[in-house]
This record gives sequence, C-alpha cells and structure tokens, in this order.
Amino acid sequence: MYKILHKESLGTNLHLLEVEAPRIARKAESGQFIILRLKEEAERIPLTIADYSREKGTLTIIFQEVGFSTRELAGCQAGDTILDLVGPLGVPSEIENYGTVVCVGGGVGIAPVYPITRDLKKAGNRVFSIIGARNSGLLFWREKMAEVSDQLFITTDDGSEGRKGFVSDVLKEILDKEKVQRVWAIGPMIMMKVVADTTRPYGVPTIVSLNPIMVDGTGMCGACRVAVGKETKFACVDGPEFDAHLVDFDLAMKRAAFFKDKEQQALAMCKCGGERR
Ligand SMILES: Cc1cc2nc3c(=O)[nH]c(=O)nc-3n(C[C@H](O)[C@H](O)[C@H](O)COP(=O)(O)OP(=O)(O)OC[C@H]3O[C@@H](n4cnc5c(N)ncnc54)[C@H](O)[C@@H]3O)c2cc1C
Ligand code: FES
Repeated sequence: MYKILHKESLGTNLHLLEVEAPRIARKAESGQFIILRLKEEAERIPLTIADYSREKGTLTIIFQEVGFSTRELAGCQAGDTILDLVGPLGVPSEIENYGTVVCVGGGVGIAPVYPITRDLKKAGNRVFSIIGARNSGLLFWREKMAEVSDQLFITTDDGSEGRKGFVSDVLKEILDKEKVQRVWAIGPMIMMKVVADTTRPYGVPTIVSLNPIMVDGTGMCGACRVAVGKETKFACVDGPEFDAHLVDFDLAMKRAAFFKDKEQQALAMCKCGGERR
C-alpha cells in the first residue's frame, strides 16, 4: 500500500499527487514512469514520475482525467492509499552536456519534461523551454520550469496566456536563431509529430516520450509496441523515449485510437453511476 501524502489541483481536470514510495524514489531517474493500480480489479495506469525526493521518499505524479481510471484516481484524497505502484520503469533520459537544448512540454507533457529540463540544466546545458496548452487553465508549473531554464516561452492555442499559437511556432523561431544540439518534446502524439517535422530539416536530434497503451510494463504483453525506424520496439522497456525522426507517429496514433469505443463505454457507465465490469 502506498499512502497519498498530498493532493493538489493544477488546473482543469489536472491533478497532482505526492505519494510515499521510498524504494522507488531512491532509484527514480528523469524519463522514467510507474504503473499504478488503485485497488483490486482496477486498471493499471502508467504515469510518468514528474518529480521525486530521495530524502522524503516521495514521488510526484501529475495526471489528466481522461477516462474511467483517471477519474477514479482523481477521487482520491490525501490519506488514501494506492494498492500497487510498480517502478521505476523505462530507460532513463540520456542526460549530458550537449550545449544548447530545447525542452518542449505540451499539456500534461509539462510534467514529464520538468525533471528532464532540470537535469539538463544541472548538467551545464543552456536550456530554452517551451510550454504550451490549449488554454491557460491547462498550463501548470510555469515557475518550476522557469527556475530550470535560461529562457521560458509560453504558448496557448487560444491566446489566453503567453503567445497565441503552437509550441512548434516558437521552436521554429529558436531553431532559426540558435545552434541547437538537441530537442526533447513530450505531449500529445500530434504535437510530438509536428515537433519532429519541425526539427527534421535542421538536422537536430530530437527525443520524444511515447505513451502507447501499456498493460504489464515488462516487455511481455506486446501492448505497447511501436514502430521506430524499421524495427518494432516496446515502449515500456525500450523507451518510453525514442528518436522522434524514426517514430511512425501515424501508426502510433491509429493504435492509440483502437480501444476508443470501449473507453467511452466505460466512461459512460461511470457517469451514470454504474459499476465497471
Ligand atoms: C509511459 C506513460 C506515461 C504516461 N504518463 C502520463 C502522465 O504523466 N500523466 C497523464 O495524465 N497521463 C500519462 N499517461 C497516459 C495515462 O496512462 C492514460 O491517460 C490513462 O491510462 C488513461 O486511463 P483512463 O481509464 O482514465 O482513460 P481511458 O478512457 O481508458 O483512455 C483514455 C485515453 O488514454 C490512453 N490510455 C488508456 N489506457 C492507457 C494505458 N494503459 N496506457 C497508456 N495510455 C492509455 C488511451 O490512448 C485513451 O485514448 C502515460 C502513459 C504512458 C504509457
Ligand atoms: S506494456 Fe506490455 S510489453 Fe510493454
């Protein structure tokens, strides 16, 4: 059992949980994730480790309510417990002093991009960060991102905060002005695809963190397979980070939409108070 020590609302349907998990916190690195199960028979939810404290033995996770299981998790309060927490899973980010880097976080992708940005800054990089969302209510951790960046840019699709437009617009402007050695981008699949298309002509190595459907998180079930270059990779053990220029985003988006009907059915039952079967 893992105790929730703190719960916070970060914006529209966005929640932060700080969970007591000393053994995972001791080993966690940026880029890694956990899989949690709230109770017996609950679905497994993969979530990136947005922050950790080795001293306090805690993990911070940030999630968006998108369906049945994340809605159930959002119903938890400080003092409640989570049945299982498996991790840290996945390959840690390759943090080095590259020179100048750009870190891009879209929507809830700001959470996983934060520890990577912090570690890249600590490693001596000059860091430009761009965070963006559909509107201001979906943005969070502006101050934390600013603290670990040389310069932070904010965009919203509707212009309610920062610059009106997409993160990729700002990224293109930076690439036109600066010699950038590496780009990290985490957010919705379509955003990561656009970022990959933006950096490709500049030849800047670009890393994305994929979030396909995951079940066991051990490389055994095959649920998280993605096409990268000419190879099939399992995001849970080979990733979740991959070379953005080699990822087949169209296939990944098609696979992500595969269970949409079933997910909507589950959510509809949840809305009308029915039990999930
Ligand atoms: C490595 C990894 C890290 C992630 N980190 C975060 C994070 O930090 N914050 C966050 O808000 N979300 C994160 N996600 C996505 C999160 O796991 C899903 O939003 C969640 O499982 C949805 O469950 P649901 O029942 O509420 O929604 P559902 O109605 O079941 O699904 C809604 C959408 O979520 C996706 N999804 C559903 N189940 C899974 C699953 N088992 N694995 C992956 N995606 C799924 C589907 O694409 C679907 O379209 C991450 C996913 C992965 C694989
Ligand atoms: S989640 Fe089962 S192989 Fe990756």
